[in-house]
Amino acid sequence: MVWLIAPASASHLDGRSLYEENCAACHGLRGFGGVGVPLALEGFQRVVTDEYLRKTIRLGRPGRVMPSFTRLSDEEVNAIIAYVRSWNDLPPPHYPDTPLRGDAERGKSLFTNKCAACHGLNGYGGQGTGVTFSRPREAPLIAPALNNPGFLAAASDAMIRQTLLNGRKGTPMPSAKELGLSKQDVNDVVAYVRSFATRTPSLSAPENEPVYLMVETDISVEQAVENVKRAVLGVNFRLIRVQYLNQGLVPEGQENHNQAIVYFCNFDFLYEALAIDPRIGIFLPCRITIVREGGRTLLMAVNPKRMSVIFNNSELTRACGEMKGIYEQILDEASL
Ligand code: HEC
Ligand code: HEC
Repeated sequence: MVWLIAPASASHLDGRSLYEENCAACHGLRGFGGVGVPLALEGFQRVVTDEYLRKTIRLGRPGRVMPSFTRLSDEEVNAIIAYVRSWNDLPPPHYPDTPLRGDAERGKSLFTNKCAACHGLNGYGGQGTGVTFSRPREAPLIAPALNNPGFLAAASDAMIRQTLLNGRKGTPMPSAKELGLSKQDVNDVVAYVRSFATRTPSLSAPENEPVYLMVETDISVEQAVENVKRAVLGVNFRLIRVQYLNQGLVPEGQENHNQAIVYFCNFDFLYEALAIDPRIGIFLPCRITIVREGGRTLLMAVNPKRMSVIFNNSELTRACGEMKGIYEQILDEASL
């Protein structure tokens, strides 16, 4: 029956519910910010185009906390943008697409002096991830990463320029005038920010990593446990405990000695990793599982670098990459 079919128009979609479902947890129920930067501020809305909002939602900020929303339909994205715009009812700006002329080399030294304290050297963004607890409370906003492929693909030169000219009132982001930058200085800084697109080394993508790390050997489980214990100490980690897989599930003394787990950690690593992002706690302490089957012994660990995919946090990916190296070293030594 025709009258049961909903019309496929954007206005039919509820932008508010879509926003509340997908964005509010980070950007706040009415866009005043939280883990994510505020979206409701006039100083923000006056400068950003709908195209910038659309691309930011679609591309996210890879390696930062802002996710990419690929599963939303075009209509849903438009409905969210219309809802975000409804907070201010300002007409979106229009920029000419003529690229700016600026001197990136000169822009680099200006950036180092005027911007790096907040946005990080080379535009890596403010320290911390935006995740609550991983940053000082008195820092209400973390400066976004400007070398981020998601940001660079979404923002035009003219939009970056206007952001610098205006600053973002109501946030720590100062205007060019407050920073003592001339119009030419601004163009030079924009040229430098644009050049991040070609200079920033990309992290090797964690989604291409194997899910687990494994070595196979002929030695007994008992010997493998001893080897892992020695290797753990050798890389300056501390042994926490060794346990059989079914320990606690069967009466004492009847555990299956062909299946064991060695738990270990290192205080500095634990402390640093949790400071970067407390969610890493779900993989700690470190562990290696040893199983004997069909006349061979397998030593296995979850690949921390692959697991870092779910965090979308490049700082953590770096830490997990280091951890992967340590696991590989332990597995190598222990399987000899
Ligand atoms: C005191 C710290 C501080 C300084 C100095 C600073 N910024 Fe920012 N900047 C911020 C913060 C915080 C934001 C996020 C503002 C918001 O929520 O809208 C920001 C936002 C931006 C944005 C928008 C990024 C985005 O994802 O929308 C650009 C572009 C930018 N800054 C460039 C610069 C440049 C270039 C300089 C130097 C000329 C600079 N900033 C200096 C703190 C700073
Ligand atoms: C998990 C938290 C999280 C969610 C969910 C999230 N964001 Fe973000 N968003 C962020 C963070 C953090 C930033 C700042 C990027 C950085 O730190 O480099 C950001 C940045 C942005 C920016 C750029 C702001 C600027 O100053 O230019 C826009 C626009 C944005 N988000 C819109 C959205 C919309 C719309 C949604 C829902 C569809 C959404 N975000 C969902 C965390 C989030």
